[in-house]
Amino acid sequence: MAEKTVTFEEFQAHQQRENLWILLHGKVYDVAKFLDEHPGGEEVIVAEAGKDATESFEDVGHSDEARDLLKGMLVGTFAGSEKLKSAPVPTHTPGSTPKVVNNSGPGTVAFLVPLACLGAYFAYRYYGA
Ligand code: HEM
Repeated sequence: MAEKTVTFEEFQAHQQRENLWILLHGKVYDVAKFLDEHPGGEEVIVAEAGKDATESFEDVGHSDEARDLLKGMLVGTFAGSEKLKSAPVPTHTPGSTPKVVNNSGPGTVAFLVPLACLGAYFAYRYYGA
């Protein structure tokens, strides 16, 4: 049987716990039935949903037995790497707008409010006394 090609859209459509595909070394695997059996727990795999899990998988140093298990879960070759790189990481709540991480820090308001309080305090001390 010819190997299936998995598009970015198909991959994104399988990101729920009971319907979960993950991406390892450019191949897509259906891990839904394996989650319960994973010796490392299901949460670590669910956390890789919608991302390239290769780095996490290799960091753990999985055994050859673990790699053998993958063969039985293969869906196909991933064809959406470019889109995946530019896509925001999904939040695992289908239907909601994906959160885009805001890296700009707490912003000026968080800085100004304590400053204003301090100013008010000194003004009170100065004028109130
Ligand atoms: C379908 C993909 C995966 C398969 C088939 C798999 C399989 C296994 C197997 C068989 C073990 C037992 C030790 C070994 O034989 O190496 C294991 C352990 C472990 N796996 Fe995975 N794994 C997968 C994905 C992942 C991912 C994505 C992570 C993310 C971090 C992960 C984290 C771990 C951890 C932390 C352990 C160690 C558990 C322990 O010894 O306490 N695995 N995995």
